[in-house]
Amino acid sequence: MRVVIQENYEKMCKWAANYIAAKINAHQGDRPFVLGLPTGSSPLGVYRELTRMNKAGEVTFKNVVTFNMDEYLGLPREHDQSYWYFMWSNFFDHIDIPKENVNILDGMAADPEAECARYEAKIASLGGIDLFLGGIGVDGHLAFNEPFTSLTSRTGVRVLTSDTRIVNSRFFGNDPELVPAKALSVGIGTVMDSREVLILINGHNKARALAASVEGGVSQKWTCSALQNHPAAIIACDEPACGELTVDTYKYFLDIEKAERL
Ligand code: GLP
Repeated sequence: MRVVIQENYEKMCKWAANYIAAKINAHQGDRPFVLGLPTGSSPLGVYRELTRMNKAGEVTFKNVVTFNMDEYLGLPREHDQSYWYFMWSNFFDHIDIPKENVNILDGMAADPEAECARYEAKIASLGGIDLFLGGIGVDGHLAFNEPFTSLTSRTGVRVLTSDTRIVNSRFFGNDPELVPAKALSVGIGTVMDSREVLILINGHNKARALAASVEGGVSQKWTCSALQNHPAAIIACDEPACGELTVDTYKYFLDIEKAERL
């Protein structure tokens, strides 16, 4: 696992956007580049930078197919807190990706489990995900894989914890009861099958989760810790998120990143 420590949020986002664009640009062959994407505040700066790069002609999304990590169950696309709405307003509407290349789980599907099975099958039919960009919750959840979700889980329906509903209530008038109780989410196994995983972890409130994910053992309690078993996982983080790492761990990662291995 690589841990790329950047001074602040802006630099972390720039680093991640450059990394993603470089991977898209280096991609060869007939199949499209398959990119997994998250919502949340963490990736917003990455989407802004990728949009700028796209408009400047530094990267194109014409041969990119995307799969989003998750979606609230029971929220229609038009709802301003649906992840569909978030992705189009914050990213897809501003870049040159063909509409048909965008995949987002349908939170209004009549049969949610069938919708999740369809999603997994579509990922497989495209040859799997090349790079999964993600964020984590303060409890270390990856996508909506809350603590104690199986580390081999596939795309399916998830029950959200009270903690997550409280944290996400900031988008629902500060009322946790208005946050949907369930979501559709890719599984930890789905993310682990990606050729590469890049997780953004920023801010003091994620410091405990970062330390548990990197220094703790692999555990269902911190589902992000599964990445320790991934052959090509990167965590991009900012200084405030490093607050709970031991000094040795912090220095170790700074040291090995000096070689600039992009
Ligand atoms: C939600 C999403 C996660 C996301 C997390 C963190 O719970 N389901 O995929 O990583 O929020 O969001 P933020 O980046 O706003 O802290």
